[in-house]
Amino acid sequence: MLVLVTGAAGFIGSHLVDRLLADGHRVVGVDDLSSGSNTRPDVELWRMDVADPALAARVQTLAPEVVCHLAAQVSVRVSVGDPLGDARTNVLGTANVLEAARLGGSRKVVFTSSCAVYGVPDALPVPADAELRPASPYAASKVTGEVYARMYRALHGLDFTTLTLANVYGPRQTPEGEAGVISIFTDALLAGRPTKVFGDGKQTRDYVYVHDVVDAFARATGPDGGGRRFNVGTGLQTTDRELHSLVAGAAGAPDEPEFAPARLGDLPAMAVDPGSAREELGWAPKIELRQGLAETVAWARERLSGPN
Ligand SMILES: NC(=O)c1ccc[n+]([C@@H]2O[C@H](COP(=O)([O-])OP(=O)(O)OC[C@H]3O[C@@H](n4cnc5c(N)ncnc54)[C@H](O)[C@@H]3O)[C@@H](O)[C@H]2O)c1
Repeated sequence: MLVLVTGAAGFIGSHLVDRLLADGHRVVGVDDLSSGSNTRPDVELWRMDVADPALAARVQTLAPEVVCHLAAQVSVRVSVGDPLGDARTNVLGTANVLEAARLGGSRKVVFTSSCAVYGVPDALPVPADAELRPASPYAASKVTGEVYARMYRALHGLDFTTLTLANVYGPRQTPEGEAGVISIFTDALLAGRPTKVFGDGKQTRDYVYVHDVVDAFARATGPDGGGRRFNVGTGLQTTDRELHSLVAGAAGAPDEPEFAPARLGDLPAMAVDPGSAREELGWAPKIELRQGLAETVAWARERLSGPN
């Protein structure tokens, strides 16, 4: 089938493009290259803003069966400093992509959300039907994007599935992303630079490997899971201090982080329950953190020692 991938040059989007091609699909990408740089010469890429009104006419002509929408302003911190800029890309951009998919006669949009939408939940791991408590413009923009997708399904019959991602990590990640801490630790430890853990090191996150994440997208492009939200995470919590030890172990570097004051607004703990994704999409994470970190560190080592 023909799949349009927005954010195709980004960390997760580029792995999704690789996976869809490996599965035998045709792929066209959309990306303004504002942060992503992972392009492939064999994949057509439209270099444009997802909020550009010209997108609709191009998608109408292309008529992709499925649109995987990953392009976004991805930083919670940036969204707090520039909420309108965040909303322009994440809310207007999503509305634009949905309208384009409708005009293109697409069957489904796979929408990318974030576990940030759950804020501080009542219990962990948080189930996919938990109350949404966005605590940043970024989280609010992801909630709003899903509201639009749901509305398009009801109004126009354009199907959608929302994937609510935990902290994704793996090769090609840059330090700016939501799970950037792994690439920050990795780059610093490989270069012999000091590392910092904020607060007491007991803050937790749910780390899910990027190949597992794109497997969830590949499954969500099918007919299953229409009109639903699924968590894409492991359900497991890893503290910042444990994470540092694991990355240091994989990098063969000393496990001696400095401690800095906690950062305002950082959520204390997060893990998402992937149970409904298992039931409806047959998806489960396969790569354990230790193995995923070994692959991530190996990739970073090669990149750091390469000609670029
Ligand atoms: N990395 C994570 O841990 C994580 C967690 C939860 C959700 N997400 C979501 O996953 C998606 C992909 O994130 P990522 O980690 O790969 O980040 P990324 O920054 O690597 O990828 C985003 C891509 O979108 C592009 N982009 C940004 N603004 C654009 C615009 N206005 N028009 C067109 N393209 C634009 C960027 O150039 C980039 O290639 C995002 O929707 C993000 O919110 C990521």
